[in-house]
Amino acid sequence: MELEEIKKRIKDVSEKAEKELLEIVEGESDKLEIWKVKYLGRKGEINNLFALLPHLSSGEKKEAGMLINEMKEKLNTAYEERISITGKQEKHKINLSFPGKRPETGSFHPITIISREISTIFTKMGFGIVTGPDIETDYYNFEALNIPAEHPSKDVWDTFYLSEKEKILLRTHTSPVQIRIMEKTAPPFRVIAIGKCFRRDDIDATHSPVFHQIEGLMVDRGINFSHLKGILTHFIMELFGNNIKVKFTPSFFPFTEPSAEVSMSCNICKGNGCPTCHNTGYIEILGCGMVHPQVFRNVGYDTDEFTGFAFGMGIERLAIIKLGITDIRYFFQNDLRVIKQFS
Ligand code: PHE
Repeated sequence: MELEEIKKRIKDVSEKAEKELLEIVEGESDKLEIWKVKYLGRKGEINNLFALLPHLSSGEKKEAGMLINEMKEKLNTAYEERISITGKQEKHKINLSFPGKRPETGSFHPITIISREISTIFTKMGFGIVTGPDIETDYYNFEALNIPAEHPSKDVWDTFYLSEKEKILLRTHTSPVQIRIMEKTAPPFRVIAIGKCFRRDDIDATHSPVFHQIEGLMVDRGINFSHLKGILTHFIMELFGNNIKVKFTPSFFPFTEPSAEVSMSCNICKGNGCPTCHNTGYIEILGCGMVHPQVFRNVGYDTDEFTGFAFGMGIERLAIIKLGITDIRYFFQNDLRVIKQFS
């Protein structure tokens, strides 16, 4: 075959290949592979052109060879570019006959839900929200709260010490936040603090080594026990409904005097008696009292001028009563079947 004829064949093949390549569109990567075999493959059209060269003189061979190689390179590049188009399109291919995927939506943890509800009740009564560290010192967790070292009441809070020598520990209640706030705030004020607490309790249906508390503290001139009773009774009725009965019984905490425990009528059995209320018809939900003068002295408050009250309650316990969850462990196992019920 003559050189001119071969050149024309090269041009024809090149044009045909380019035209066919451009016809291959989105999602047709299988067609693209067939095209590749047809032109660039071992027995493809380009190699067929090379097979014509032996009949030419050496000068002509060089010229034709160069033309075929140029074309081969051009088609290779064009092929690579096409892959990105067909491949990309393939990923976007949507089969409209398939059912849609429902996006997963999250839900709040029951402890978060209750904490927010409680916070709202108190913020409506003018309480601010404060926080304190989970890791505390013996001073804030015990001493400043009028719980001296070796005091028998320390037994109540079986403590996780991080460093016994340096007296660094995981707070056993949220009461240390009282001290931290009073140290840097001049009365009058009213605040609540929400957070995690830690005690060396064995895990069972009603005990967990980590749990949450809400602490309340109000200090002003002329604050007395009736204010405490009024605020807490209102809070419990807001959270559980107006039909709930509230009972204050004398109790003891080293940092409050007088101290009380607050119980509410069991809203699970409506006062008839059930395992949750130990058949008493009442469930104890919080501890409270008038801030002990020694605590005020520890933070430099004038005890002739100011009085105040404090209270503390376990959030898990309130959540158990409010949501009817029977076991405290459900709050920490993160079983989505449980958590999703309370969005
Ligand atoms: N800190 C106490 C507890 O953990 C609760 C409490 C707080 C009692 C404030 C009185 C005043 O049991």
